[in-house]
Amino acid sequence: MDVNVAAAGQEVRSVRAAPSPGRMRPDALRGKTWAAAALALGFVLWAHLGSHLPVFRTHVSVERGWKEFRDGYGVSEFGGDGHFVRAAQNGYNVFFFTHKYAGRFTRKTPADRVNACAGCHTPADMAYAFVNADRFDPKSGRRLSFEERVMRCFAGSMDGFVPTLYDPTVRDLRILARVVAHHLQLSEGARKDGVQLSEGAHGDGG
Ligand code: HEC
Repeated sequence: MDVNVAAAGQEVRSVRAAPSPGRMRPDALRGKTWAAAALALGFVLWAHLGSHLPVFRTHVSVERGWKEFRDGYGVSEFGGDGHFVRAAQNGYNVFFFTHKYAGRFTRKTPADRVNACAGCHTPADMAYAFVNADRFDPKSGRRLSFEERVMRCFAGSMDGFVPTLYDPTVRDLRILARVVAHHLQLSEGARKDGVQLSEGAHGDGG
């Protein structure tokens, strides 16, 4: 018994004694923290400046025609740069270069003659579709959102896959449509005859 108690006492002592070598630890820990911080900083710098990976870039690639589009539709009204303008620009890229910027939702390649939304639609079409969306659609018997129209074109016209409602691709196409609708001063429910959609596009709608 005594031995056990002594042993237990020693254990207690050794446990108590434990902090003393641990006094070195804060330094070691600080060293580790610095190393981790340096690593994180290094990664951030590499990701932003060195990697050239699109996923790490906050700005959108400037595609041909963007400057003209930007001026033509007064995109700068929404600011020189910012999340909204960048989203519109990404929408522009998706709309005109779908095979490149939404490749995961389409089977169309550069080899296809029509490989982008712009092959069948004009930006104005998007604007009119936007302000006329969320209406009862006699063909399907229910309300169709702008997003659903876009999804349908990805699945059908683009021979591809349906993006989710929350995908930036769909969001930015909507923002592009908003920008153009704003410039054309369309209000909700504006309708236009003879929208330049491909034939049959406005079959029942008129
Ligand atoms: C091959 C031609 C073609 C391509 C490519 C195409 N569409 Fe369409 N799109 C159509 C047709 C045809 C309709 C009309 C379908 C209908 O009303 O049932 C339509 C309808 C729409 C509408 C609804 C129009 C309205 O007035 O309500 C939207 C929005 C739309 N497309 C967006 C897109 C987007 C975004 C893309 C690219 C991802 C795209 N489309 C690619 C042919 C195309």
